[in-house]
Amino acid sequence: MPNSTNIPYFDLTHQFANYRTAWLEEIERLGQTGNFILGSAVNKLESELAEYLGVNHVVTVANGTDAIVIALRAFGVGSGDTVIVPNFTFYASVEAISLVGAKPRLVDICQDDFNIDPKKIREAVDDRVKAILPVHLFGLPANMKEINSIGEEYGIPVIEDVAQAFGSVYRDAFGGNIGDFGCFSFYPTKVLGAYGDGGMITTNCEEYAEKVRLLRNHGITEPNQHELIGCTSRLDAVQAVLLSLKLKSVSQVIKRRRELADRYRQLLQDYPVEIPKDLPDRKHVFNIFTIRSPERNKIADSLQSHKIGYQIYYPMPIHNQIPYQGLGYSDEEFPKTMQACRDVLSLPLYPEMPDQHVDRICEVVCATLD
Ligand SMILES: Cc1ncc(COP(=O)(O)O)c(C=O)c1O
Repeated sequence: MPNSTNIPYFDLTHQFANYRTAWLEEIERLGQTGNFILGSAVNKLESELAEYLGVNHVVTVANGTDAIVIALRAFGVGSGDTVIVPNFTFYASVEAISLVGAKPRLVDICQDDFNIDPKKIREAVDDRVKAILPVHLFGLPANMKEINSIGEEYGIPVIEDVAQAFGSVYRDAFGGNIGDFGCFSFYPTKVLGAYGDGGMITTNCEEYAEKVRLLRNHGITEPNQHELIGCTSRLDAVQAVLLSLKLKSVSQVIKRRRELADRYRQLLQDYPVEIPKDLPDRKHVFNIFTIRSPERNKIADSLQSHKIGYQIYYPMPIHNQIPYQGLGYSDEEFPKTMQACRDVLSLPLYPEMPDQHVDRICEVVCATLD
């Protein structure tokens, strides 16, 4: 356990220790097959993931950003097209749109869930919009019923950014199995994380699954035959065998994340901080536990002085990031995003974290607000 006076924001060392022996044994077996790229380990993982999520097709890729890029390319989104995306998200959601040569159409979020506001999507849709990219931020699905109905009405695909929300549920479906494509990241701190980079695309459409399979691997149909201009974006088999091991306990991991979140919510409920809500039709997986307070900076200073890790996700809206300043948006167009940038703060939450850390963190936060 880390030093009790020093609580990290995230700590993977204990998790690694739990998987070390089993992973090394799998790597040993893999070494004997000599198949380090794609092959049976990756195929096995893809089938297991498809079964877990109840989706027809899973195509693993090198990272979550590539997953979005490849999904957009599969729909032919490119130069001259626009993609609707929330302004309050991790940079990669928007960067992926630029990487295919399209233009992001940034829209504001909802107050209660940090996710894209369907009303703002409706206001933004026009002929140039070729996809909608909701992000299930922090682990909570966006309002997908509304978003899907806008997609259907205008005949445009909905590509879910599920990087932070593996295992989340919207009504009866897992995140990534609600829109046309789900794009996931296996970055180490995610709910299902590799010990390196990784990602995947989920879809129920065979035709698109085939297309993304080709795109991730140079468009190869058979040796020396290339049907599409693709890229190199394959999941390493070394990560695939780890992810197969970790998938077996991902439901327990999510349960533990939710337990820790409940403990935080209970201890903070009588204090003037906004805590993440449970919405009736959605299951949050708490990849990130984010509170809001007008006293955010004071809380941050206090945590820092008590050697407690925290993060600000995200202090700056996308439209103020240097590459996007030229799009000409103003802060006034995004009141909810601007407010979130000012008052969010994310507290440590990872499955191996002891309950006492939550208690200590809440003690410090509450003392700051008393
Ligand atoms: C919301 C969101 N989208 C996309 C990504 C990109 O994933 P990756 O880092 O695997 O490329 C991330 C990664 O943190 C993310 O949080």
